[in-house]
Amino acid sequence: MGVQTGSCVLLFMMKTLKLILITLFAALSCSRDVEILPCPEIIPNPAEVQMQAGTFDVAGAEVVLSGRLDSLSKAYLTAFAEHLSAVTGNEDGRGRIIFRQDASMVSSCPGPLGKEENYSIEIKPRKITVRAAGLNGFVYAVQTLKQMMPPQIYGQTPAPEVCWEVPCCTLEDSPRFGYRGMLLDVARHFYTVDQVKKFIDMMEIHKMNVFHWHLTDDQGWRVEIRKYPELTQIGSKRRHTLVGHHHTSNEYDGKPYGEGMWYSQEQIRDVVAYAAAKGITVIPEIDLPGHMMGALATYPELGCTGGPYEVMGKWGISDDVLCAGKDTVYAFLEDVLEEICAMFPSQYVHIGGDECPKVRWETCPDCQNKIQELGLADDEKHSAEHYLQSHVMRHMSDFLAQRGRKIIGWDEMLQGELAPGATVMAWRRTENGHKAARLGHDVIMTTRPYLYLDRYQSEDKSAEPLAIAGYLPVNMVWSFDPYKSEKDDAEPLSDEQKSHVIGIQANLWTEYIATYDHLEYMVYPRMDAVSEVQWCQPESKDWECFRRGLDRMRVVYEIMGYNYATHIWGESNL
Ligand code: ACM
Ligand code: ZN
Repeated sequence: MGVQTGSCVLLFMMKTLKLILITLFAALSCSRDVEILPCPEIIPNPAEVQMQAGTFDVAGAEVVLSGRLDSLSKAYLTAFAEHLSAVTGNEDGRGRIIFRQDASMVSSCPGPLGKEENYSIEIKPRKITVRAAGLNGFVYAVQTLKQMMPPQIYGQTPAPEVCWEVPCCTLEDSPRFGYRGMLLDVARHFYTVDQVKKFIDMMEIHKMNVFHWHLTDDQGWRVEIRKYPELTQIGSKRRHTLVGHHHTSNEYDGKPYGEGMWYSQEQIRDVVAYAAAKGITVIPEIDLPGHMMGALATYPELGCTGGPYEVMGKWGISDDVLCAGKDTVYAFLEDVLEEICAMFPSQYVHIGGDECPKVRWETCPDCQNKIQELGLADDEKHSAEHYLQSHVMRHMSDFLAQRGRKIIGWDEMLQGELAPGATVMAWRRTENGHKAARLGHDVIMTTRPYLYLDRYQSEDKSAEPLAIAGYLPVNMVWSFDPYKSEKDDAEPLSDEQKSHVIGIQANLWTEYIATYDHLEYMVYPRMDAVSEVQWCQPESKDWECFRRGLDRMRVVYEIMGYNYATHIWGESNL
């Protein structure tokens, strides 16, 4: 009996000790997470946050959907609730997270995009209330909430040992620009549907809303067009690929590239729907009338000389471009764009217009006849051939307008006459965007020295994989000011002209990026800086807060298994 009593006491003492240890551990591990920081470690930094005392335990919290939510919002939030429950350990929590549809949460960003993107979050000890007008606001609220939670939320395994408390606060947030894009070039190197979806997932984390899909170029045609099946059978394949830099090398790898490297229409629709479920619009680019060697190798009759042409294995610009004098070329492009419109519901279609040399047009009888027929002539600003390119862009713009679409084109559209209603994507200089804004056209800034993620990330180029050029560290991306011209004597934009700057986009051209692992290295963490430039008003940007946010984001990258460049942490990737 005495022994029995003794063992009971021992058992009781051990149980009590275990309870004390668990409680102590929970208290210790929680104290780190609920620390009230001078600014939240959230990228992009929210517009307004008021931190308050107290915490909310998200573990096992009940998720409630309230109001008139559309089906995409419901699906997104239900998936979040399931993930939250699975990762936090599915215990019965005491709090509720209410997602409330609120039609008043609309943003005043310039341009047609980004209207339902505002959101607010109120965190109290027993209740979180999220308000948004529609899917985009809810997506961003969820992303912000996830960034306030321990980074294990980005994992897939249950982590009941983690302290899942988040600090109480009130948060109001809205984007600075309605168009917040990333371009991926899948023509120079191809990325599978799963990889493209992974890229879209990272855009979602960074509150971006446009995926600009560069689908065709001199080095490969990568979208199925049913009327022209040879485009993907022939135009997607090149004989070989350049080794080394295109300025200095003439060596090729001897390996054919491109077999099966194109997207079927079904796959395209799958990606478009995948992105739409995250509030991301996919804008296709069919780059014309230059950058068309994929099409010319397939159908040489579309060129000025009739060929023969070859899908390029080298990077750079081709003198061979579509003939702007032949009616068959216009018919071909209309057919292609017709099928593109059927695949992509986006209001915008990007039709390129960059880097189109005029040497073939200058000596082509068909092009010269077209110039005569249209009454085009050189003037002090531009050549007749530049006006011929404007005619091509205008023709396609009119064709798309009849289908309710608007064009975006690169800033070469300013050489000649801009098509009415065209949106200009300024890539060479910010000033080109300002020029377009002064003409009353909408503009998206993708200024190369700041937003081309194919550039080097270290001054020591020998310590990095081969890249196209330049030097673009994270802080330089972060410093981009879309209203600052390169020209010292440029007139500042008026408020009305500023309202034509509808967005900012970073571009990832893939001449020198052959694998998805390398792609991630080029994108992260510069994408974080891009997102702040796109989302934050200048007064909401704070380098120290951003740096702390990056330290946290690094843990997220680790958990998600992303490859990333480490220069910002003073480390070499080699
Ligand atoms: C471009 O980089 N050629 C738009
Ligand atoms: Zn021609």
